[in-house]
Amino acid sequence: MGADYQAEQANPEGERIPRHVAIIMDGNGRWAQARGQARHQGHRAGLDAVKAVVEQCGRRGVGALTLFAFSSENWQRPRAEVRMLMELFMRTLDTEAHRLSENNVRLRVIGDRAQFSDRLQERLAEAERLTADKDGLHLTIAASYGGRWDILQAARRAAEEAMAGRLDPASLTESDLAGYLSLAELPEPDLFIRTGGEKRISNFLLWQLAYTELYFTETLWPDFRAGELDRALADFARRQRRFGLTDQQLRQRDRA
Ligand code: IPE
Ligand code: IPE
Ligand code: MG
Repeated sequence: MGADYQAEQANPEGERIPRHVAIIMDGNGRWAQARGQARHQGHRAGLDAVKAVVEQCGRRGVGALTLFAFSSENWQRPRAEVRMLMELFMRTLDTEAHRLSENNVRLRVIGDRAQFSDRLQERLAEAERLTADKDGLHLTIAASYGGRWDILQAARRAAEEAMAGRLDPASLTESDLAGYLSLAELPEPDLFIRTGGEKRISNFLLWQLAYTELYFTETLWPDFRAGELDRALADFARRQRRFGLTDQQLRQRDRA
């Protein structure tokens, strides 16, 4: 089995910290509705949670953070909500890109960008350019993203390589195919968090979550703050990741 399920590192206090955390930020609409507000106000409130979590990941030594902001399926929401989300996305890029850069955060966006307006595509590219040389937190926003879309685009690119004679399909390995996926340069997520109470993946990272530890909380995304992230990190630190091996094998390996 070729996959490289390398263990995460412990921080100086000896606590195991995930190298990569992936979050489904869910519950914005319910948060707003519970306050008698429009759904888009929940999306706006969710931005404060994004800022808090980005900062806390930096403080806690998490190397990479991937946030699911808009799924392939979310395009089917009412047009007014989609429009509001796109505007919010655009405005946030304008106001936050410099701040990310100052905080040494590298921003990347993954997903089917062709679906976005030209203006938004330009803003995304600009924000990525601005932070491209930063080597602090690797922040990835998944927007117009679906796990199936990701695997499909990887398969398509591999097929193109094969057609061009640069790749032998018979010798294609898992790690070769993973190299065509959106997060190829990052370690696979160690910890997945979903807020908002639903216990499903909703077409987020499918391939990359194969051995990720899953954490679900009822907290709605706009209420998710540093303390909530710390709770998830503490829960993660207590888990034993076996990657298909037995407990005894793992103890032997740790002694070696
Ligand atoms: C998540 O919150 C944000 C997006 C999907 C864009 P929701 O908008 O799904 O909020 P709920 O789940 O309806 O409360
Ligand atoms: C998942 O939330 C997508 C994002 C948070 C961006 P949804 O609210 O779209 O998921 P479902 O519809 O409840 O599965
Ligand atoms: Mg939802």
